[in-house]
Amino acid sequence: MERGLTLELVRVTEAAALASAEWVGRGLKMEADDAATGAMRAMLDTVPMDGTVVIGEGEMDEAPMLYIGEQVGAKRGPAVDVAVDPVEGTELVAKGLDSALAVIAIADRGQFLHAPDMYMEKLAVGPALAGKVRLEDPIEITVRIASEVLRKPISRMTVSLLERDRHTELTERLRKLGVKLKLLPAGDVAGAMAPAFEESGVDLYVGSGGAPEGVLAAAALACMGGELQGRLMFSEDSERERQRCVEMGIADPTKILTMQDLVGTGDVIFAATGITHGSLLEGVNFTSGDRASTHSMVMRASTRTIRFVKSVHYMPVKTKIFA
Ligand code: FBP
Repeated sequence: MERGLTLELVRVTEAAALASAEWVGRGLKMEADDAATGAMRAMLDTVPMDGTVVIGEGEMDEAPMLYIGEQVGAKRGPAVDVAVDPVEGTELVAKGLDSALAVIAIADRGQFLHAPDMYMEKLAVGPALAGKVRLEDPIEITVRIASEVLRKPISRMTVSLLERDRHTELTERLRKLGVKLKLLPAGDVAGAMAPAFEESGVDLYVGSGGAPEGVLAAAALACMGGELQGRLMFSEDSERERQRCVEMGIADPTKILTMQDLVGTGDVIFAATGITHGSLLEGVNFTSGDRASTHSMVMRASTRTIRFVKSVHYMPVKTKIFA
């Protein structure tokens, strides 16, 4: 993949973030998602690549745009897998809460796991802990190893996870260990990326979230030297889910998914733009009647360069603001 694609992908997430930002705090998550999806879809067609959506807005019959299998891009350039989440954290946007992102990742064709829409148990770490901890270990062992490797007392470690009823037991065990917890209302792509940014103060990301989001987070971590291990979680409707996994090419849906399983071994490009303010990225800021600023990050696995891009967009207001 040519490096010029990095900036092209920033344009794609900027477009999605700007469109959904109009809906921040309005209590309408579907509208925010639709606006971002439409803007992302339109911008994608300007990108010189021959893309196939493998992580998207759903199946062809349930999503009008950016559905799994949809062809995107200017149909010239490299053949790539495309993973998107136009609004990662729809509830955050609807409620005007922090850390909603517009996200995209691409890799050479055939590299990304075709993750079905189900939960995935995750363990995400930054570069210092990559290869040192295992998802299958009890959390007590993982925290102890992390504490030794990071040379940090357990009481100074921060573990992040989604605040969910399904995490009650895990949360209690973590409290008993004495770590600090960062409980997220939503948004586990940003959550899983946090341990790779020392400034975040987060050492480990644990618990379950969406499987598609697991692939997106793994793509980001591949660009930062971090690691995500995942395991698909089956609900009561497990037979249907197993069938879906097989259809999507996952031969053994019970295995622990490594970085290689999730994002392959080739190059990956990941871009994200903040929709609402967060610790990684600022949100869209409507600075005056016709301007808006965005804050994005873009990175590539082959070089591990992380770029932060601040842009100011000219967005003339269609309706008259002042009488
Ligand atoms: P949406 O953007 O689709 O609303 O997802 C937000 C999110 O928090 C994801 O980051 C996460 O993977 C998933 O929802 C967790 O699902 P649940 O809210 O059911 O625990």
